[in-house]
Amino acid sequence: MATVSTTDVFQKNLFAGRVLLCSGGGSGICRGMTEAMVRHGAKAVIVSRTLSKLEKAAKEMREATGGDVFPVAADVRKPEQVEQAVAKAIEKFGRIDYLINGAAGNFLAPFENLSYNAFRTVIEIDLLGTFNLTKATLEHLKASKGAIINVSATLHYKGMPFVQHAGAAKAAIDALTKHWAVELGPYGIRVNGIAPGPIAATEGIKRVVGENMTQESIPVQRTGEIEDIAQSTVFLFSQGASYITGVTLTVDGGEWLTSYPPGYPTSVLKPTHSKL
Ligand code: COA
Repeated sequence: MATVSTTDVFQKNLFAGRVLLCSGGGSGICRGMTEAMVRHGAKAVIVSRTLSKLEKAAKEMREATGGDVFPVAADVRKPEQVEQAVAKAIEKFGRIDYLINGAAGNFLAPFENLSYNAFRTVIEIDLLGTFNLTKATLEHLKASKGAIINVSATLHYKGMPFVQHAGAAKAAIDALTKHWAVELGPYGIRVNGIAPGPIAATEGIKRVVGENMTQESIPVQRTGEIEDIAQSTVFLFSQGASYITGVTLTVDGGEWLTSYPPGYPTSVLKPTHSKL
């Protein structure tokens, strides 16, 4: 069963007059998060490395929503490029209210095959990228009493093999979410995270589990969709979440909680609840 659209749940003009800056907003989950914010009235700036991809995504999102989406190319690993991107966002829209740190890289690599440079690359994109963009945006978020969502993951909750580079980065990002919540709260800035579980049809899931994702092991008995993450995004940025900060919201249908010893009678978990 597909999840409902955010417009079925939240007011359409929730973010009218507000501006979102989203790294990684040109594709996948972060594009879905951005598009949802625009559907609810926000203007958006999407940032990633390749301008041609961003321009295509921005055009498609403008056509789908009738809203305003502005593409800016920058490598989040490079502080000077990030500062220029923020300056362009301000030049275009005059303010930044919401920041999504979503730019990320991942691939499966056993420890033996993970080079020094490969580990560093993912830490730089995910962790330093999150720090760089937040630092460059901070004064604007203070001015607007804005909010931040750091995109995390569930990889590091249980020590999943072959993704230590992404898991280590996301664990550190979860720590930043808490540090910033405490330090920036007095400025009126809320800082939360969203940890998507396996979400269908995304680059991350193609890289980590291929196309063969099954839903049997997911307690809610369906695979995650980008719209599920969009719902949480709209909620966490809304005034309905004004007393929530420092939380990383796991959005995975309960998937990461499932873990059984070999031979455990998991058939009891079938929807019919047949007897043990
Ligand atoms: N297995 C092992 N090592 C890999 C790899 C893989 N599948 N893919 C890249 N690497 C290594 C490279 O070999 C290189 O290390 P080396 O110099 O020792 O050979 C290092 O990672 C950097 O790769 P490079 O391609 O130069 O970096 P990049 O900055 O262009 O790309 C990545 C960044 C590696 C994260 C790339 O996968 C990417 O851009 N991904 C973006 C999309 C994405 O991952 N989305 C999913 C988000 S969950």
